[in-house]
Amino acid sequence: MTPRENFGSRFAVIMAMAGSAIGLGNIWRFPYMVGEYGGAAFIVVYLVACFVLALPIFFAESIIGRRGRADTFGSMQKLAPGTGWRWLGLLTVLSPIIILSYYSVVGGWSVEYLFKSLAFDFTGPDARIDGFFGHFISSVWEPIIAHTLFIALVAGIVLGGVKKGIETFTKICMPVLFVLVIVLVFYSLSLPGAGKGIAYLVKPDFSKLSAQAAAAALGQAFFSLSLGVGTILTYASYIRADENILTSGVATAASDLFFAILAGFAIMPAVFAAGIAPGTGPGLVFETLPFIFNRMGTAIPWLSALVAIIFFLTILVAALTSAISMMEVGVAYLSEEKKLPRWRAVLYITVFAWVVGILCSLSFGPLANVHILGNNLFDFLDKLCSNWMLPLGGFLFTVFCGWKMSKADVYDEFTNGGTKNRNLFRPVYFLIRYFAPIGILVVFVSALLFS
Ligand code: PHE
Repeated sequence: MTPRENFGSRFAVIMAMAGSAIGLGNIWRFPYMVGEYGGAAFIVVYLVACFVLALPIFFAESIIGRRGRADTFGSMQKLAPGTGWRWLGLLTVLSPIIILSYYSVVGGWSVEYLFKSLAFDFTGPDARIDGFFGHFISSVWEPIIAHTLFIALVAGIVLGGVKKGIETFTKICMPVLFVLVIVLVFYSLSLPGAGKGIAYLVKPDFSKLSAQAAAAALGQAFFSLSLGVGTILTYASYIRADENILTSGVATAASDLFFAILAGFAIMPAVFAAGIAPGTGPGLVFETLPFIFNRMGTAIPWLSALVAIIFFLTILVAALTSAISMMEVGVAYLSEEKKLPRWRAVLYITVFAWVVGILCSLSFGPLANVHILGNNLFDFLDKLCSNWMLPLGGFLFTVFCGWKMSKADVYDEFTNGGTKNRNLFRPVYFLIRYFAPIGILVVFVSALLFS
């Protein structure tokens, strides 16, 4: 058997993990949530949720993954042989594949929009944008073709392996992504009337803070940091023994947060400058922004075309680096547990997610009337994963790390054999063992009670 691959350097680890974390969650979900749940007040709750609840889960997954040195299922088997914990391993193989299937549909939308902006379709007097989004997502073939292109790109990168595929791609793309979004921020802030957008992001409205807002902040922190679904665990299993788990966790969380805030400043001022109400969900990015590019385009058409290209390229790259982390979880499982060659593992996962993705895509069109618990398939899977599977997975990972693994093993991993972060071990272990699992329970029970 070929030896297990590792990421080559600290930079590579951080870029891969940040690549997983930074995605559609930052670009459309975060700015919209901020507005919905009280602006800066929500950001404060989100920060707390990130650092005292989500980060401990990040450490728990990292510790389990690097100690187990295997895929999620294999790590559970190694660290708790013959116990029911292997089901957690299986659950966290399944959930990222489900997320991949509908995430790839949205990834496909960004492919389509990038092509459209390259064709100058969002600029000039004859821009064909009115009603385009609704028409596009409800049609049969175009979104399926775009989804196919997207998932094929993901498969191509994952096929290249951990080092040549994932590491190379994320090492190049993540710095580019930051440059792109910073360009967008400058552009957005320079628009007349941008001030209202800034106020929307920074003015706290504490009256909107509720149990729901706290649950939303927590769910957003999980989704945004890719927690509870085995992606961080799997990536951590490729971290070399001498790397510092604390550094990679804090660096990933900080860059994820920084990017979310940049994305907010890139989007909201433009939305307000154009006098458009901040819409919800994917609509904000795909429905509203093309209008803005067009309006701005009356003065300097090529500039607005360029901004549109940069914008949709940003979304595409961010979605790709996240999607590859979702696919890698299942690929690691199939190749290590089922001993499949990598190409076959990639093929199986791709075909599965592709087919489920097609159904999700059709659920905006011909299958719109097929409802599961009141939602179309796309929304059902999204809610199932973000509201239930991620928090459940995150909760169980902390319980596993805090209560099932021996304290000595956890100490050994977190401190690299007693050589690093020794002073921080006690507080972090406390967070993993008590604070994070109880905190997750409290937030969920109260959100259920008050909903
Ligand atoms: N963190 C990614 C985003 O913000 C989504 C993701 C969720 C990636 C779960 C991997 C696993 O878009």
